[in-house]
Amino acid sequence: MHAVMNTLTIARPDDWHLHLRDGAAMRDVLPHTAARFARAIVMPNLKPPVTTTELALAYRDRILAVLARGTRFEPLMTLYLTDNTRPEEIARAKLSGAIHAVKYYPAGATTNAGSGVTAIENCFPVLAAMEKAGMPLLVHGEVTDPDVDVFDRERVFIERTLAPLIERFQALKVVMEHITTSEAAAFVTGAPPRIAATLTPQHLLLNRNALFAGGVRPHHFCLPVLKREVHRRALVAAATSGNPKFFLGTDSAPHARHTKENDCGCAGMYTAHAGIELYAEVFAAAAALDRLEGFASQYGADFYGLPRNTEKITLLREPWQVPASVPFGADVLVPMRAGAAIEWRIAAA
Ligand code: NCD
Ligand code: ZN
Repeated sequence: MHAVMNTLTIARPDDWHLHLRDGAAMRDVLPHTAARFARAIVMPNLKPPVTTTELALAYRDRILAVLARGTRFEPLMTLYLTDNTRPEEIARAKLSGAIHAVKYYPAGATTNAGSGVTAIENCFPVLAAMEKAGMPLLVHGEVTDPDVDVFDRERVFIERTLAPLIERFQALKVVMEHITTSEAAAFVTGAPPRIAATLTPQHLLLNRNALFAGGVRPHHFCLPVLKREVHRRALVAAATSGNPKFFLGTDSAPHARHTKENDCGCAGMYTAHAGIELYAEVFAAAAALDRLEGFASQYGADFYGLPRNTEKITLLREPWQVPASVPFGADVLVPMRAGAAIEWRIAAA
């Protein structure tokens, strides 16, 4: 029998999929991430989207400018792929040293994806340039076809778009972001080493019943939408397997409370306030705490060709209460587990 572990020291983790937003909103959420993670891959779905090296570097400067003095946190920037992205932009991005990936949103698939790609064929010259530069493609893997059931959109995307894409571009590195199905876990497991996936805390902790527990629960709505329990179990198995293709990406996606508690509520869950603690719950429940460090602090860096962090953090099994809301610019947002307990905390440094 395993002894129950109540403390765990691991290398400082990184978040390989994060929404920071901008301005006053960013100022409120960034400290949550910077207190836990050494680095984060910062999503480019601002309004307007971050489509060029110049825009990404300016966004990076705005992030660095609001970091508290003495905070060591490195934002890893991304470009937002559109039908009009030019192959030359990839060389510029690579040369900057600050841009680490390109994000592919199928047009209309999720929050601020209106300028996304209408047909991936339009981007083949850019993908060829990325393949050459060793620049990973980060994929929001859902079809937008209204005839496809919303719970099937990830599976159908793999068949229609992703499998042919990685076949066509034999050296392109691809991260299937925030996977939500057993089909995605199996696909990534069986794909070559250049194909990886990130996993969010909500898809590891919740199934789709959480959307309707006693009534409609807008704060559990994100995209891709939560799936059945059988899928959640497959995702936990992938995350805790020790397979380096699977690593941490919170997809923490802050939205003002009134935009989610709304006639047409926004997609996105906020998890940055407990961005490593929630995963500790998952790994503890699976009796796999010894595998959390690889998932949270090693495999992502290895995939991106970046050094592993050497600084350590310690997690304690010591419950704390999540506030009902947290400030978000002129508004507030409702974080995951609002008003309830999280089992793990980070020990003061
Ligand atoms: C994200 C957001 O709000 O920017 N929302 C979400 O539901 N995950 C966008 C995304 O990653 O799909
Ligand atoms: Zn996201």
